[in-house]
Amino acid sequence: MNIHPEFHRFLHRQDKENLLGQRGIVVWLCGLSGSGKSTIANAAERVLHQQGRFTAILDGDNLRTGLNSNLTFTDQDRLENIRRTSEVAKIFVSQGIITFVSAITPRGELRDLARGILGKDLIEVYVKASYEACEIRDVKGLYAKAARGEIAHFTGKDGSFEPPQDPDLMLDTEATTIEDAAFELLETIRERIIVRRPL
Ligand code: ADX
Repeated sequence: MNIHPEFHRFLHRQDKENLLGQRGIVVWLCGLSGSGKSTIANAAERVLHQQGRFTAILDGDNLRTGLNSNLTFTDQDRLENIRRTSEVAKIFVSQGIITFVSAITPRGELRDLARGILGKDLIEVYVKASYEACEIRDVKGLYAKAARGEIAHFTGKDGSFEPPQDPDLMLDTEATTIEDAAFELLETIRERIIVRRPL
């Protein structure tokens, strides 16, 4: 192949992290559509922003209007969706950014792909809510459409959803408020984003 990647000449991740006074991390929220992933990411990001942290959100719906606009919801396209999202998150985290990813990521294979790309920088958060609860919320009206058979491969209906077996954190949005969920998430990453300087 005629590509010659160069990393050593460029500033390192640590240079960026020292400038920002934080460590980069990827907080990957997976769960059904309408489970509360984006809402929790938004709430947590706002708290961090107030605390002077540099953050970003990579949201599945948003990315599908641009970078991933040529992808559908077949298993194959979801794999490519998660691969691209993971690669973008990898670039962000290597700049020291606290990066939230909000994407359904419905199968173990997809989450393994993300972990393979992001390694120890990934924190996997399962935003848990039953199909029935999401159907009642139906924020975007998609569950009603799916019930009418108007959405192909709808996650939890004719598209599979395998709950993560061993997530780093599980947030049950049928049992907790968004504020409490965001707080718990921030507690989980608190130590991980601190820059420790030698004494
Ligand atoms: S993922 O499965 O590939 O991770 P992603 O998070 O990017 O999904 O996109 C999910 C969003 O797309 C949902 O929140 C919903 O608004 C919309 N959507 C459209 N069609 C579908 C579908 N068939 N299944 C699930 N979500 C869909």
